[in-house]
Amino acid sequence: MDTLTLARALHVLAVVHWIGGVAMVTLVLLPGLIRAVPGPERLRLFELIEGRFGAQAKLSTLLAGASGLWMTWELDAWGRFVDPASWWMAAMLAVWALFTVVLFIAEPLVLHRWFHARSLHDPEGTFRLVLRFHRVLLAVSLVTVAGAVLGAHGAI
Ligand code: HEM
Repeated sequence: MDTLTLARALHVLAVVHWIGGVAMVTLVLLPGLIRAVPGPERLRLFELIEGRFGAQAKLSTLLAGASGLWMTWELDAWGRFVDPASWWMAAMLAVWALFTVVLFIAEPLVLHRWFHARSLHDPEGTFRLVLRFHRVLLAVSLVTVAGAVLGAHGAI
C-alpha cells in the first residue's frame, strides 16, 4: 500500500470519529437531555459525556490535521488552498482550524467556565444556544465532508 492511500485511510477514520461524534452530540445527546433531564442534573450529565468525547475529539482532530497535511505534501497540492475551484480544500482547513481553536483554546480557557456558570442560572436558554451552535458546526462540517469526497474524486 502506498503512503498516500494510508494517509487517506487515517484521514477518513479520524473524520468519521470526530464528525460522527459531533452528529451524535447534536442530534441525539443534546435534544435528549433538553427534553428529558432537568437543569442541574442535565448540566452534570452533559459535562460528563461531552467531556469524554471532547478528549477523544482532540486526538481525532490532530490525526485528521496531520494526515491532511501529509496528503497535501504528497500531492504537492498547496496551491489548492487558494484556488476557488478547490473550495473544499479551504473548507477542510477552515473547519479544522475552527474546531482546533474551540477544543484546545476557547473551551479550556473560556467556554467551559462560561457554560457552567450560565447554565446554573439559565439552563433552558444556555442549552438551546449550545444546541444551535452545534447545529451550525455540524451543517458546515457535513457540507465540507460532501464537498471533499466529491472534490477528491473529481466530481466537482
Ligand atoms: C488541516 C486540515 C486538513 C487538510 C490539510 C486536509 C487535506 C486533505 C487532502 C489533501 C485530501 C485529499 C484530496 C485529494 O485526494 O485530492 C483530503 C481528503 C478528504 N478530507 Fe481533508 N483535510 C483537512 C481536514 C479535513 C476535515 C476537517 C474534514 C471533514 C470535515 C476532511 C474531510 C476529508 C474527506 C471526506 C476527504 C475525501 C477522502 C476521499 O474520499 O478520498 N478533511 N483532505
